[in-house]
Amino acid sequence: MAKTIQAIRGMNDCSPTESPLWQWIEAQVRQVLNNYGYSEVRMPVVESTPLFARAIGEVTDVVSKEMYTFWDNDEQLTLRPEGTAGCVRAAIEHGWIYNNEQRLWYMGPMFRHERPQKGRYRQFHQAGVEVFGIANPEIDAELIMLTYRLWKALGIDQHVTLQLNSIGSLEARANYRSALVGFLENHQDLMSDEEKDRLVKNPLRILDTKNPELQKVLDNAPKLLDYLDDESREHFEQLCSLLDAVGIQYEINPKLVRGLDYYNKTVFEWVTSALGAQGTVCGGGRYDGLVEQLGGHATPSIGFAMGLERLVLLVQEVNPNVPVKSAVDIYVVYQGKGATLAAFELAEKVRSELPHLNTMLHCSGGNFKKQFKRADKSGATLALVIGESEVQNKQVVIKHLQGGADQQTLDLVNVIDYIQTQF
Ligand code: HAM
Repeated sequence: MAKTIQAIRGMNDCSPTESPLWQWIEAQVRQVLNNYGYSEVRMPVVESTPLFARAIGEVTDVVSKEMYTFWDNDEQLTLRPEGTAGCVRAAIEHGWIYNNEQRLWYMGPMFRHERPQKGRYRQFHQAGVEVFGIANPEIDAELIMLTYRLWKALGIDQHVTLQLNSIGSLEARANYRSALVGFLENHQDLMSDEEKDRLVKNPLRILDTKNPELQKVLDNAPKLLDYLDDESREHFEQLCSLLDAVGIQYEINPKLVRGLDYYNKTVFEWVTSALGAQGTVCGGGRYDGLVEQLGGHATPSIGFAMGLERLVLLVQEVNPNVPVKSAVDIYVVYQGKGATLAAFELAEKVRSELPHLNTMLHCSGGNFKKQFKRADKSGATLALVIGESEVQNKQVVIKHLQGGADQQTLDLVNVIDYIQTQF
């Protein structure tokens, strides 16, 4: 036998038994986003490399070590590691945000060359939202309310908590950065080489270090919230009072800075303790400077993205009885003279008249016993049975595959009405 070829490490297949849960989760996401009046956009999975370097920041982990980059003749291209940069690029390029507000969403694969583990993959899927043209904190609150509604729809709202912070204006952050570096310089003995490197290139990222000794020291470090400019402080206070008013609980986490450089003012993450180390299911924030930085007109912007693999894992963990519909509702079995054509006609009629039901025709021959085994395995509720006598009498036998109801023989003309009463 020829040698088999395996999938790339950290890139997963979605099996026929897993896909119904994925589809259910994706349907909940779409439902909630449509409910709030957001519009779907679709961008390419490949963009020119400088887009990500400029938007996400050269010194971030994503850009400095995790991008899948290749040359296409003399142009350097990258598999998108996230969706915000491409969405902003498209919004500027097509004038979607020229004198116009936009509430947009997207869903699809992203690529980061990270060390794979549970909840962290090299190809993963995000559902993301980007809102352009709205500066005030109502929209920050709307995004958080929207995600909370989704957690309730997915049955995971008791297992996620909201972490919130404001990282202020560029200027406030620069002041804070100097204060933090001043403080941390006295604690370099506790730092790994990578952390020392961060101290020079991206000191705010040290705030989310996993190093327990450094974490302890950071409890006494200057707090970003104390360095906020007045406008950011007011914005944050208004957001907090809106969340209080609608009853959404949050924890202010002064160490939350996020891993991408484009943020300012509000940043947030929804985290769970049910998934081990990879507990952030959703993260986002404001990025009021990015549109201008990428060549558009200054446009206030905010967004977030959630990791669909992590949501799938969390739903499986805490809500294993989600009402995932079987892929097949009705299974048609048939045998004998004239039965094949009659079965094809019947299956097509059911599909035309009851398009909300999924109907599978057996197709692979064999006796009734073998066919019923397949029908059971399909998870269908009803089997429609056609043998020679049914063909002659223009009838169909209905067998209930779930539960113990007796089988029935019906005239062909009454079959559709009967099926309708069963679902
Ligand atoms: P991010 O925090 O890098 O933000 O990613 C958002 C979410 O994607 C994470 O919270 C996590 O659930 C999921 N995720 C990230 N990396 C992986 C991975 N390697 N494997 C599995 N899941 C992963 C962004 O991407 C921003 N673009 C979000 C945003 C939109 N901010 C403003 N607008």
